[in-house]
Amino acid sequence: MLIMGINETTHDASISLIKDDKVLFSGHAERYSKVKNDWFTNKGLIDNALEYGIPDQIAYYENPFLKKLRVKTCGGFGGGKPWFEHTYLNAIPRTNFKHHYSHAAAGYYTSKFDDAVIVVLDSIGEFNTSTIWAGEGNDIKLMYKDNYPFSFGLFYSAFTQLVGLKPNEEEYILMGMAGYGDPERYFHKVKDYFPSMSQQKYNFHKGIIDWDEPIGQQEKFDIAAAVQKVYEQRLMEFMRYAKAKTGKENLVFMGGCALNCSANTKLWDIFSDIWIMPNPGDAGSSLGAAAALYGKHLNWQSPYLGYDLGGDYPVQKILDGIFEDGIVAVATGRAEYGPRALGNRSILADPTDPDIKNKVNLIKKRELFRPFAPVVMAEHASEWFDMNYESPYMQYAVKCLKPDLIPSVVHVDGTSRVQTVTKDQHPGLYTLLEKFYSVTGVPILLNTSLNIKGQPLLNDMNDVKIFNEINRFNIIT
Ligand SMILES: [Fe+2]
Repeated sequence: MLIMGINETTHDASISLIKDDKVLFSGHAERYSKVKNDWFTNKGLIDNALEYGIPDQIAYYENPFLKKLRVKTCGGFGGGKPWFEHTYLNAIPRTNFKHHYSHAAAGYYTSKFDDAVIVVLDSIGEFNTSTIWAGEGNDIKLMYKDNYPFSFGLFYSAFTQLVGLKPNEEEYILMGMAGYGDPERYFHKVKDYFPSMSQQKYNFHKGIIDWDEPIGQQEKFDIAAAVQKVYEQRLMEFMRYAKAKTGKENLVFMGGCALNCSANTKLWDIFSDIWIMPNPGDAGSSLGAAAALYGKHLNWQSPYLGYDLGGDYPVQKILDGIFEDGIVAVATGRAEYGPRALGNRSILADPTDPDIKNKVNLIKKRELFRPFAPVVMAEHASEWFDMNYESPYMQYAVKCLKPDLIPSVVHVDGTSRVQTVTKDQHPGLYTLLEKFYSVTGVPILLNTSLNIKGQPLLNDMNDVKIFNEINRFNIIT
């Protein structure tokens, strides 16, 4: 049976298509419409998905009735009629799953675990904001829930807005800013807003409405640092509670909060093993809804599930470009499903050159304080970074052990958001690293997404052409 999962009417719409346990396609609406975090699906995305087959069933990622009720009674984001309902897809039998259940299913059914606690933390689903589930065999059972207005995500988003960033989109920038701030300056003040895992000062949907001090640039960094510290403390409390409640050693972490890679690292102190699928936010829920309808584990292979540019990985061209210019852009094969470029829509650069960071920032037109990530051969990761686990989707920020040797991929706080690669995960990218290593002794490259700040990742050849023209660049395809 072919199942199409759809996620719409919230930030970052997406579509997935599965055939039994095989994921045939997963793509983001924004990559086709060029509207960042597009709420709605579109013809380009749907047509691309349908190339992989006509679905027998549609699985939708939330309950539209409850969602409407919540938007009406509580306000806030989300809502509108899903665009796909205007197409013939609307005639196909459809099942709706609850928002947090779709998150839980996306995580658990793509994991290797048959016994795990599943924690979902986001801003808000229909009404649920924080849930704990027990995954056993093919069953996912709800064990705990918190409802709106209590919310980990809304807390973080409200402070994102307070420092002048865009809530529900630029939380990752606040996380990056935290490295530049003094967490102690505002720690107690911020903690008063979220004193324990079950207590919050007020409804963060309305933003921080009573901050009574002027906020200059240093204050923004100090607030970011305090928010990150408070978030991490509350997160650890919640995770310890989840473990105690279920007695499980394996964690599946989902929801937009699972994108906080600085906090995620600390979870290894609590759990024996962790799975965060590469798209833990709402865009991952098209796959989650499809998996929920299938009701069993999927045969998870890789996150390269989107638009297919075709071609073999251009290893030699990339290598030549890096040795010549220090920096190249590559667009090849299938687009990544998830917010991070993992090699197929990437800018890759020599991490040993301290000036390369500025060059990449100029191309991407983004803030100079933002860190860049390293991609490393998995078997060498622990020699360069303080980690003894794999991080295939850049989900953990860990201490760099040799910051002087790879200055362009180390954040101001001494950490790096690491992507580990094995030959199985991505043979082309692995071979590239192997060759770079054999010449330089460094098994690492800088890897950042191929886009301009605030715009979606490049998707097809037309995007490549436009990017090349505007930036006088020559993307390797
Ligand atoms: Fe969500």
